[in-house]
Amino acid sequence: MGIDPPDWTRARQAVVPAAPPEARPKDLFRGGTRLETAIIQGVPATRLAGWPRGARREPVSFALDPASPASQWKPVRRGSFGDGLVWRQEAESRWVFERPLAEDERCLGLGELYRGLDRRGKTHWLFTTDDPHHTESSPALYQAIPFVILERGGLAVGWFLDSPAPQRWDLGTDLGATLRITLLSRRGFQLTRLGPAPLPAVVGAFTCLTGRTELPPRWSLGHQQSRWSYATEREVRQVARELRRRRIPTDTVVIDIDYMEDYQVFTIDQARFPRFARMIGDLRRDGFRVVTILDPGVKRDDTAFVHRRGRERRAFCRDAKGEPFVGRVWAGPSCFPDFLREDVRAWWGEEAEALVRLGVAGIWNDMNEPSAFDVPDWLATTATELPRETDQRFLQEAPEGPTGHLEVRSVYGSQMARAAWDLLRRVSPDERPFVLSRSGYAGMQRFGAVWLGDNTSWFEHLRMSIPMLLSMGLSGVPFAGADVGGFGHDADGELIVRWYQLGIFYPFFRNHCAMGQRAQEPWAFGEAVERHLRRLIEVRYRLLPYLESLFVEHAATGAPILRPLFWHAPEDREAREIDDQFFFGPDILVAPILERARRRRSVYFPAGRYFPFDGGPPLGGGRRHSVEFGYDAVPAFVREGTILPLVDPAPHTDDLSRADLTFRCYGGRARGRYREDDGLTLGYQRGEVSEWELRFARGALCAVARQLGFPATGRRYFVEHEGERTSFTLPR
Ligand code: GLC
Repeated sequence: MGIDPPDWTRARQAVVPAAPPEARPKDLFRGGTRLETAIIQGVPATRLAGWPRGARREPVSFALDPASPASQWKPVRRGSFGDGLVWRQEAESRWVFERPLAEDERCLGLGELYRGLDRRGKTHWLFTTDDPHHTESSPALYQAIPFVILERGGLAVGWFLDSPAPQRWDLGTDLGATLRITLLSRRGFQLTRLGPAPLPAVVGAFTCLTGRTELPPRWSLGHQQSRWSYATEREVRQVARELRRRRIPTDTVVIDIDYMEDYQVFTIDQARFPRFARMIGDLRRDGFRVVTILDPGVKRDDTAFVHRRGRERRAFCRDAKGEPFVGRVWAGPSCFPDFLREDVRAWWGEEAEALVRLGVAGIWNDMNEPSAFDVPDWLATTATELPRETDQRFLQEAPEGPTGHLEVRSVYGSQMARAAWDLLRRVSPDERPFVLSRSGYAGMQRFGAVWLGDNTSWFEHLRMSIPMLLSMGLSGVPFAGADVGGFGHDADGELIVRWYQLGIFYPFFRNHCAMGQRAQEPWAFGEAVERHLRRLIEVRYRLLPYLESLFVEHAATGAPILRPLFWHAPEDREAREIDDQFFFGPDILVAPILERARRRRSVYFPAGRYFPFDGGPPLGGGRRHSVEFGYDAVPAFVREGTILPLVDPAPHTDDLSRADLTFRCYGGRARGRYREDDGLTLGYQRGEVSEWELRFARGALCAVARQLGFPATGRRYFVEHEGERTSFTLPR
């Protein structure tokens, strides 16, 4: 038998890689689906629900606002989701969704990620994570909001993959042209498409579905002073005293974990805070509100009342054997309430009520991803399947029944914040609650404000706070901020001044820093820095009527407070690329200095003319200008044609309603709106609000009352144009 000569032709072909075989794994899907359509505030919407064979039912959403007017979904018998979507179930707990990405398509939104505004080109891990090292390599942070906006040529399509289970979003990584989402879940999903429509309409529809933030109490929009920790009554009083003595407007002093006894929630360390309620009362008389922190972990200690009561109610998350899950947090080994359960949220509210009765005005929810020091890795970012339900550390009570924690993890934080929100609503039904949360899921905005977690006193983190907060707004969460001055490491005078120059525009405005770091109060860097910060904080207070009107606009339309330039300039190609500047509402463009030892920066202006906030001639739009910003500057510009209501600064917002108010008119013709309410209650929802339409032309201001439900406070009004101020009477 002869040996065949080698076939060189075939061998040569073999080294040239053949086109890859169809790599797509088989689709195992045999479950149920439902396709529906709706028109949500003029935006076409399609929703596809899918659940695996054997699932008890279609997964219940934790994101949708039960009060949403968008409940008119019509079933579709035949048809497809559209938008080029293909999807399949690849394994018992792995679902893949794919759609081609056009070359010039941008990927916006997706909640809190340490990334620029366009999330394209990277893989993101949507899984609530306590990662204190915010770097370019961080795949996930504290909040997970699986809502992306695909934008192209001024038209946008939103995709909301509603599931709090782990999700890996590959947005054209390695220059690829495919959006690929891998969802690790046994519950299934709801995928909603919104659009195509202009970007503001898509965000409007998304927030119509998932809810909007109500107008916050005015005091919560003022300056908040925090630190880990003001650990004794004396320290808290001293900080408050210094703030007033140095005339630094401030509304809130925030108290971190050291007020508790051994870090046990709902306790107060009597040695360090012997007269807690009296301290709060005294501070209140001086115009301060006190916000205290709460962590979800309850110290495992049978002699302690909270733990005992939680155990009696079987409120804690349990493993498959019925044993409470124990994770180490500040208090040591601790148990974690199952906030998915309504009865547990109600119990938590009953416990927290004691704090409110002592005078605490707002609740700060921390560590609620949830975080546990001895569980650094809840699930590897490379995971391709979920562990068995019984191996997910613990089970939680989803509406469908006991469910592995990882399946519903991303909603833990929002549900904890919801417990605080419900409590404040219950105790003071007519007051606007203030709740702050570190973790959150889509719809979080209904339960208060968020901040970006443990950032660092670096210029890089100052810079990144802009695209991060813009993305939060596009993801439905307007009331957000970052720790001003940075949390970790030491700030210095230059950094803190630059940070306040930006921070006065954060919807949530709080100076906070970590234990062991250099003091970061506004006076901690010497006289010159203190002077600049005082002036900047005063500008924040001057802008509060405008900021409140932005919250009113958000509640009506879903528009964020901080907006990328292209929100107002969709056709502008240059504006598309910019994420180191933003619009603060429709009328103010902010372009801060974001690097050390810089005095000047290039600022891009979309069409129109813009007046420097600090005065001077307007700059023409459609081009860049090189602008100098000293340490005493407000790095902002007001659009020509704006009437900005500016209130005289006061030490705190209680005094603001009587302070003089000036309508500053920019340009020869301008228009605006102005409103007044009590800043504290829900009275405005019952018509206890006054509103005026304003027009400025030929040197004169004309105001027309639209509603007169809120009585005059006795404040004086002025009109200002080109530096000249005259008094003005608002018609009533
Ligand atoms: C977490 C919070 C931080 C807080 C600290 C102590 O790191 O993110 O803001 O100060 O815990 O409670």
